[in-house]
Amino acid sequence: MEKNIAVIKGDGIGPEVVSETMKVLDAVGKKYNHQFHYTQILMGGCSIDAYGEPLTDEALSIAKSSDAVLLGSIGGNTSTSPWYKLPPNKRPEAGLLKIRKELGLFANLRPAYLYPELADACPLKEATSAKGFDMIIVRELTGGLYFGERSTTEVNGELVAHDNLIYSESEIRRIAIKAFEIARVRRKKITSVDKANVLDSSRLWRKVVNEVAKDYPDVEVEHMLVDNSAMQLVANPSQFDVVLTENMFGDILSDEASMITGSIGMLSSASLREDKFGLYEPSGGSAPDIAGKNIANPIATILSGAMMLRYSFDLNKEADAIEQAVRDVLKEGYRTVDIYKDGDKKVSTTEMGDLIASRV
Ligand code: NAD
Ligand code: IPM
Ligand code: MN
Repeated sequence: MEKNIAVIKGDGIGPEVVSETMKVLDAVGKKYNHQFHYTQILMGGCSIDAYGEPLTDEALSIAKSSDAVLLGSIGGNTSTSPWYKLPPNKRPEAGLLKIRKELGLFANLRPAYLYPELADACPLKEATSAKGFDMIIVRELTGGLYFGERSTTEVNGELVAHDNLIYSESEIRRIAIKAFEIARVRRKKITSVDKANVLDSSRLWRKVVNEVAKDYPDVEVEHMLVDNSAMQLVANPSQFDVVLTENMFGDILSDEASMITGSIGMLSSASLREDKFGLYEPSGGSAPDIAGKNIANPIATILSGAMMLRYSFDLNKEADAIEQAVRDVLKEGYRTVDIYKDGDKKVSTTEMGDLIASRV
């Protein structure tokens, strides 16, 4: 099979973790006889430095005409980087929001799974050692607070800022259907997370989810308030199978879910729409604090590459091979610093990539 992949290495640790992922994809291509053609494009801070804007029309059109997009991460230190002196629509994150919206990627899947080998790295030993957990967060990605109108204006001599949280029934319905379809091939349980005790958008969310649920009588649905969900994720993560939620709640809860797997460096992510196209990126950021040191964990990005093979290219056994290689390397005791404990074999970013590539 031949596939064209638009590659956005991005900022910070992005180039480091994407290079390791390409190494692993190439190993898969060699073993299973596929050609992955990469076209590199700029997005985020590096694009601002080169072109004065976070995503050029040319880069966007290359992404649009590819079979899938592989992304590292974008952005810098939001307190110190000069990129954050620019107007908001010229900053690195504006590129990411634009590409998600322009490509129509409304469904963001973030699987969080506790590898038995990493039980030691999980901060919740009592809660997880016996049961483990295996959940997937289905986050709405092109609506809500991220895309509502916003402004900062002066009212009565002081600045007032507002951000609009908007959801339509159709936006809620399509992400709910995605979540129910996923639940059907998992443990058939959905926890829909909202703030329906306060927000109208959440009350509409609940109504639409209940309507969609009627078409999936085999799937159990529960509604949980977001504050309680944050608590339950720590108290009893094994209760969750599919977590369905809106954009901002999904952003926050997925970082929380990542940490109970041991590290944000383990959490992969796929941003999808109705067809086979997708954008694949780790859930974490550009980690400016550790960039350039060859210590970042590349596993989240490598597993996002596996999701690309599975969801966009239907290469299931190849995706299995990557996931198995990751498990093998963890089983053999290799760890980047973020998941390292005494007695493990400490490896760098590039060594971790080499190890996984050699075992696919
Ligand atoms: P971050 O996720 O970059 O970092 C949070 C912490 O996790 C840091 O201590 C970092 O070192 C660590 N970390 C993250 N990824 C890691 C990995 N692969 N291996 C080991 N440790 C890892 O979050 P932040 O510091 O809040 O944000 C930094 C920048 O990243 C900001 O500009 C933010 O907007 C951007 N960001 C981008 C994306 C994306 O491109 N999808 C996602 C989140 C944040
Ligand atoms: C993520 C990131 C982005 C988001 C930022 C960088 C805009 O945190 O992918 O989780 O909030 O969606
Ligand atoms: Mn986030």
